[in-house]
Amino acid sequence: MKFFIRVYGCQMNVYDAEKIQTLLLCNGHECVNSEDDADIVIFYTCNVREKAKSKLLSDIGRINNRKDKIIAIGGCIAQAEGNALFDHDDSIKIVFGPQTYHEIISFINRACNGERVLCLEFLQSKKFNFLPMHSSVKKSEYVTIQEGCNNFCTYCVVPYTRGREYSRPVREVLTEIQKLVDKGAVEIVLVGQNVNSYNGDTDDGKKLNIGQLIELVANIKGIKRLRYLTSNPYDFNRDLMFLHKELQPLLPPFIHIPIQSGSDRILKRMNRGHTRSEYIEMIEEFRDICTNINFSSDFIVGFPGESEEDFLDTLDIVEKIRYSSFFAFKYSRRKNTPAYSMTDQVLDEVKDNRLARLINALSKHQLKFNESCVGTVQKVLFEKCGKQKSQYIGKTQYMQSVIVKSDKNLIGNFVDVRIERGFQNSLFGSIV
Ligand code: SAH
Ligand code: SF4
Ligand code: F3S
Repeated sequence: MKFFIRVYGCQMNVYDAEKIQTLLLCNGHECVNSEDDADIVIFYTCNVREKAKSKLLSDIGRINNRKDKIIAIGGCIAQAEGNALFDHDDSIKIVFGPQTYHEIISFINRACNGERVLCLEFLQSKKFNFLPMHSSVKKSEYVTIQEGCNNFCTYCVVPYTRGREYSRPVREVLTEIQKLVDKGAVEIVLVGQNVNSYNGDTDDGKKLNIGQLIELVANIKGIKRLRYLTSNPYDFNRDLMFLHKELQPLLPPFIHIPIQSGSDRILKRMNRGHTRSEYIEMIEEFRDICTNINFSSDFIVGFPGESEEDFLDTLDIVEKIRYSSFFAFKYSRRKNTPAYSMTDQVLDEVKDNRLARLINALSKHQLKFNESCVGTVQKVLFEKCGKQKSQYIGKTQYMQSVIVKSDKNLIGNFVDVRIERGFQNSLFGSIV
């Protein structure tokens, strides 16, 4: 059968969707480029903000001849909405949670026999034993090392959709990375909801943390860049900070550490488990140890009870930390999370206003940082062609997009690039 997968969400969903694609290909199904050409359409969707669901339903509504197709919904939204998703469209035949996707072939077979399949079990550790290695390996590959979350921030669905924290055993992670590198990957991104709380078993019964795992991965020949995503502010220790200094350029001097809000009162209501000054201290310690390090962050504006004063604390932390890139969101009210029933919800127009002001403040620092790179030489991993002829686009160690011209195909190569111009979202340079 012909299949098409559309994926929305974080690095976890991207990793899962790649594994699903491999499972289908290994079982003789054919991957096509659009919903309309497919017999099976799989939506693998996030649930962290409300608009994911309306987007999913409108996407399904736009598929031609969908009565003749098998539509499957997987990922965090399936776990959260379950059975109720079947009510939205008769063509939805399969709803499967993120811990069950290794059984996709059997789900499809059952759906072909006319069954509506619902599977929301939590088989976290088992799942990884069933996942084949994909045959066409990209230059940059994700490897899940940790899944789930025990933190229960009051706005967040992830602990409910992905379950409790689980770390994959060290050997399993190293074997997967070695296979990817043998097949040509040069950048490995260790992914999880809270990667820096990694606590994986070794064969001799010890536990390794993220820094210890990184040291082992760094020994694998052929890896040129190693990143990890997403980190929480709780589990950074000095050893990990020193690794960022010692393992450059393999381990880039750049980390995504979400703060969400700069107000202690809101951080407490969010159940973030740290104060703004603890976060600032951690960033300062990082900068003392690794002087060229830069940070990005996630922000939420308009969390219930957020006053103008709280919001000004968020703007203040932006000025203190000077993030080099960012993601900023309006608070989205999620059913079954504690913040859903907080009575002091913020008006949407206030959220809009704060989001615009926050993005404005963050953008200024991003632009300044990009401009400050002009004249420097950056190691760039090239990933794709640009819009114009002979243009290639790659990423610096700070995850900035860089565009260069070259007669030689640069895709998959690390190249030294002198930065000539810096804009809001991209840099232009020439090969050294
Ligand atoms: N584990 C990571 C983030 C996981 S979710 C951490 O703790 O930092 C990714 C991002 O989505 C979060 O950092 C947060 O900024 C955003 N997010 C989560 N729930 C949200 C909600 N209900 N409304 C708006 N943004 C939300
Ligand atoms: Fe969600 Fe908080 Fe866990 Fe991150 S740490 S996944 S924001 S509950
Ligand atoms: Fe979204 Fe699930 Fe990731 S809710 S953020 S896809 S873990």
